[in-house]
Amino acid sequence: MKRNKLVIVGVGHVGSYVLADAMKLGLFAEIAVIDIDKDVAYGEALDQEHATALTYMSNTTVHAGDYSECANADVIICAAGPSMIKSDEDAMPDRAQLAVVNSEVIREVMTGITNYTKDAIIILITNPLDTMVYIAENEFDYTKGRIFGTGTMLDSARLRKIIATNYDIDPKSVTGYMMGEHGHTAFPVLSRLSVQGFGEKELDLVFQGKEPLSRDGLKKQVVKAAFDVLNGKGWTNAGVAQAAVTLAKAVMLDERSVYPVSTSLHGQYGYDGDVALSIPCIIGRNGVEKQLEITLDSQELEWLHQSAEYIKETMKVAKT
Ligand code: 2OP
Repeated sequence: MKRNKLVIVGVGHVGSYVLADAMKLGLFAEIAVIDIDKDVAYGEALDQEHATALTYMSNTTVHAGDYSECANADVIICAAGPSMIKSDEDAMPDRAQLAVVNSEVIREVMTGITNYTKDAIIILITNPLDTMVYIAENEFDYTKGRIFGTGTMLDSARLRKIIATNYDIDPKSVTGYMMGEHGHTAFPVLSRLSVQGFGEKELDLVFQGKEPLSRDGLKKQVVKAAFDVLNGKGWTNAGVAQAAVTLAKAVMLDERSVYPVSTSLHGQYGYDGDVALSIPCIIGRNGVEKQLEITLDSQELEWLHQSAEYIKETMKVAKT
């Protein structure tokens, strides 16, 4: 009988956090982990297996394996490849610097996966995310919509949290998102921000925050948030792992939830198969069920085009 199955490729700081979150989710009967270092994969799986003797909320079994595990996977989360590392204090390295090394990693991972499946939903985390999504989607003849990246879902969580802290409200009451690159050119879509119906122009008036709302200021703060974490603890993992597992849940439960995720654009905003970036999408059992071309104001459109151009430059570096 078919069991709900997740495969995690790459169990470093990020993949191991995905594993821990997915174990607690309780939606998967089986989780397999794959890593270039087989001992690490074995150790991570065994460690989580020990934890199951202390948790009574799920009966997920976990084990290490190879790419043949993908054959009957429902969802595959890829966190393979090196991440940004802490350098000087306050440094904001560009994820694009990982393009050359991680494009090779993604090609290897996708070759491994596609030897066994073209059906599973693949959620990518590896940076530079949008370039990795573009390669995976366009070089492997995979079914459209079944590959996407966590994209600006994490940047959006950071935006909502920053706004919530400023106005001393619950981030879950803030709806709004970042679009574009998961990186330095991500931008806030403040024309669409809402706190239970209160929009951009009303927030300062109604909620009286510590700082007046400024588009540029928020854009910078959200981008910097990743580096505040990185320069503190040396890597980031909790936020992006939660984003990936939330997306996996949306797939498994066919939620049709709307999240900003990274996919190749097909007609939206004048792009047609030439760039991948984050726009709001409906996520369900088939992955990206629909890409939503929300109307942006002139500043947001300008930011979107800047972001697309920047990603295209990174894509050139990652070409075969
Ligand atoms: C993050 O934004 C580094 O992309 C990773 O946390």
